[in-house]
Amino acid sequence: MTTKKGTFIVIDGGEGSGTTTVAKEIVQKFGWGAVYTREPGGSPYAEKIRELVLSDDAKTSDVETQFALFWAARRDHIKKTIAPALAEGKVVICDRFDSSTYAYQLIAQEQVQLIELFWKIREHFLGEYVPNVYVLLDVSPETGIARAKGRNEDLNHFDKRKIDFHKSVNKGLKEFVITKAEHGSVVDAEQPLEKVIEDTMVIVQERLTQ
Ligand code: TMP
Repeated sequence: MTTKKGTFIVIDGGEGSGTTTVAKEIVQKFGWGAVYTREPGGSPYAEKIRELVLSDDAKTSDVETQFALFWAARRDHIKKTIAPALAEGKVVICDRFDSSTYAYQLIAQEQVQLIELFWKIREHFLGEYVPNVYVLLDVSPETGIARAKGRNEDLNHFDKRKIDFHKSVNKGLKEFVITKAEHGSVVDAEQPLEKVIEDTMVIVQERLTQ
């Protein structure tokens, strides 16, 4: 892999928290010096895995299988998209990352036996590509789900889960971003979109000047 020069920012949040809109807006504000990417996906091969893990067929396999697929996609994404962009000195804004695996596969699906494996794989697969900061767009599961349902888009099998699942996702994301990640910040995503973007931008700028 190439050596990192740029800055790697992750924006994560529960369903309906606005990660995609906020990540794309931040990239637009930076212009050519920044790239938007997303997980699952972000490279041609990883986008194929995205189709698999978000399809209803994913429900026929167990959480271990899904956990492995999310990590496989992430490894390809790092090698093909994230590492080259960072080597060029770009600001990489990634819509979801391993914080989502921690929250959706481990905490929300009660797979505590996978936690140790998670950290081992993380160390090996991420190597020097540990994000410089994780920004959590914090929204109550009730608000988030209502927003997600209000959009005219197909809901994936995670979106369709019961409210308790989304509450656990929220708990897992907070646990990861506040207590486990190397650098994490929380933005109140119940605020108007413009303010959410502004608050996120402040955190990103702070990381860039450190
Ligand atoms: P979205 O990014 O369009 O919301 O869809 C991605 C879905 O995949 C979302 O429901 C969260 C889920 N997810 C996981 O369960 N584990 C992961 O590691 C990632 C990156 C996403």
